[in-house]
Amino acid sequence: MKRIEFHDREKETKEIHDILDSEPSLITFVYGPINSGKTTLINNLIGQLPEEYAPFYINLRGRFITGYEDFLNVLFEIDEGGATDNIGEYATSILKDLKILSGIPIPINLFEQIFEKKDKSKDMFRYIERFFTEISEKRIPLLIIDELQVIGDMKIDGHLVYKLFNFFVRLTKELHLTHIFVVTSDSLFVERVYSEAMLSGRCRYLLVDDFDHGTTAAFLGKYDFTDDETEVAWEYCGGKPVCLVELMNYEYMEEKLREMLRIRRGQIDQRIGVLQDVHKKVLFEGDKIEVTYDNVMEILKRFSEDERYEYVRITPDMTYLIKENILFADPANSILKPQSRMDLLAIREILHRGGIEHI
Ligand SMILES: Nc1ncnc2c1ncn2[C@@H]1O[C@H](COP(=O)(O)OP(=O)(O)OP(=O)(O)O)[C@@H](O)[C@H]1O
Ligand SMILES: [Mg+2]
Repeated sequence: MKRIEFHDREKETKEIHDILDSEPSLITFVYGPINSGKTTLINNLIGQLPEEYAPFYINLRGRFITGYEDFLNVLFEIDEGGATDNIGEYATSILKDLKILSGIPIPINLFEQIFEKKDKSKDMFRYIERFFTEISEKRIPLLIIDELQVIGDMKIDGHLVYKLFNFFVRLTKELHLTHIFVVTSDSLFVERVYSEAMLSGRCRYLLVDDFDHGTTAAFLGKYDFTDDETEVAWEYCGGKPVCLVELMNYEYMEEKLREMLRIRRGQIDQRIGVLQDVHKKVLFEGDKIEVTYDNVMEILKRFSEDERYEYVRITPDMTYLIKENILFADPANSILKPQSRMDLLAIREILHRGGIEHI
């Protein structure tokens, strides 16, 4: 197995450094198609940060969150070591030996106090604000939450995620206390955020897309791909880092790629074909709307010629395809496209076969 080094992302890294150089005032949404390298970029950046920054990185992926209790356990890193009520001293002690933390540190006694409260959010936010106020006296704090959409639909007297956004607006735009990055590959979540009045003018959007051709060629060049091999890889994987990395382990690359495409085509076929057998509904603007096979195919047909297109508005049929991780919507640029080059090829194979069947 080859060890793969972090590659490029100079433009995105610079953009984030520019944000970090200025006073915190907006929430930054880092978004992009599935497996484009968002988490890798953020982790690489955290690892390279100068001493003056204090990063706190929380990844909600794979965490089972059904209520506030679970959320608190993920959000905080409970410090069993020393019980204290002095948040100032506690923050100073944290900074003395700052590792990359997977949660906001909290002394166990304060955590238990929040945990026991009926209205947990008030005390939770109060602690975080105090903690970041203390940290910001000495360092520039950075709060990064990866996969925030995990709590996107969670309701506990109102949407938790909106309470959190309100609080983030306070920490950034009002108090300028800490940089906040929300990372997500759920484009419907980003789309909802994008059209949310409460967040309008309070966020910025940073797209981390698959590599472009030049970056892909340079990446593969590092691992001795010939020009021909690079073109084959690009034809099937585009600049999807995870796909390119996978290829590095196979001697018979083209065979592997065809197999990958066959599998993906089967998956997409299944997700679309199912619409012919059952009536599927998607949640759209609060209503359950039925999607039909024909309408979904109409949307896919646009990709028989184009790799992407500019949409006017997201429809229920698009929502189905996005939910199924077949299409990716970029709301900041109003672009709809397949999640990957492989998905585009699979869609085209399905369309082509459909065309023949219709004759
Ligand atoms: N800049 C890079 N250099 C080298 N490899 C990379 C890079 N970015 C991503 N990768 C490879 O692609 C894989 C997937 O990347 P990553 O998990 O960061 O994507 P993601 O966008 O966070 O995915 P998801 O949409 O699931 O959240 C990584 O495990 C790594 O192997
Ligand atoms: Mg990720």
